[in-house]
Amino acid sequence: MKKNLRTLKQMQIEGQKITWLTCYDYSFATILETTDLDMILVGDSGGMVMSGYENTVPVSMDEMINFCKSVRSGAPSKFIVGDMPKGSYEINNDEAIRNAMRFVKEAGCDAVKLEGGINMSARIKSIVESGIPVIGHIGLTPQSASSLGGYRVIGRNRSELTSLIEDGKAVEQAGAFAVLLEAAPPSVAKEIKKVVTFPVLGIGSGSHVDGQLLILHDLLGIYPNFRPKFAKCYVPEVIDDFLESIKLFSKEENSKNFTNQDGIHALSKLCIDKFIFETRNLIFPNDDYSYQE
Ligand code: KIV
Repeated sequence: MKKNLRTLKQMQIEGQKITWLTCYDYSFATILETTDLDMILVGDSGGMVMSGYENTVPVSMDEMINFCKSVRSGAPSKFIVGDMPKGSYEINNDEAIRNAMRFVKEAGCDAVKLEGGINMSARIKSIVESGIPVIGHIGLTPQSASSLGGYRVIGRNRSELTSLIEDGKAVEQAGAFAVLLEAAPPSVAKEIKKVVTFPVLGIGSGSHVDGQLLILHDLLGIYPNFRPKFAKCYVPEVIDDFLESIKLFSKEENSKNFTNQDGIHALSKLCIDKFIFETRNLIFPNDDYSYQE
């Protein structure tokens, strides 16, 4: 059953970790659709992994809407979050609402995500008041990485920790239903969780959060340019199972079932299922995939 704000909140209350992966196209969305994943993010990282931009800054609203439409076609039963690209929400509340509305009306998204804390609370409030659920994004915010002094861990000193706590509170007060914390040491997530009641989801922020996001292309090891420390590629751990299963499929008596189960679809599904299992059972992320304090 498709997740919604109520069932996601219930998962947080019951201490069940929320599982979240990025996706940008139809074929991978069809794989996610066959899994028990809770949410999909059509991230602006699509600008990098699909279009080859150097960072997330150049990707446009039209490109994001196209990614989202393709993902919605492939994953009709998943809760999909559209990522608002740089320049689509900062200028004023009206423009933020207009663009958030495109994600919902044109692309069938269930919610939007935008980067920023206190500085974006008016935008979050206006989008939420227009009837669109919002997830905030604090910590390392790649769209403004140049103002943060590059891609780096956020929250290691007292003043950054204080700002992150204030940002978390502001995002909740503005009406967002959750916040994503990126690239922060585990203790920062713990501190933020003490002052908010909504789900705190994490990417590269340790295991104290209420759910984990990973970039699908990192999980599958198909983005050649960069992989952050916190991103686990699952292929090496599932490859033996995959080889066994395709040997089975190719046997004479199984040839009738030998349809589309013999390739990247099956391998990806094994990886995604393992990510879901490890997240739910607190196996991922361990210290190897978390930043030091
Ligand atoms: O676009 C994206 O995938 C993101 C994550 C890096 C958090 O925003």
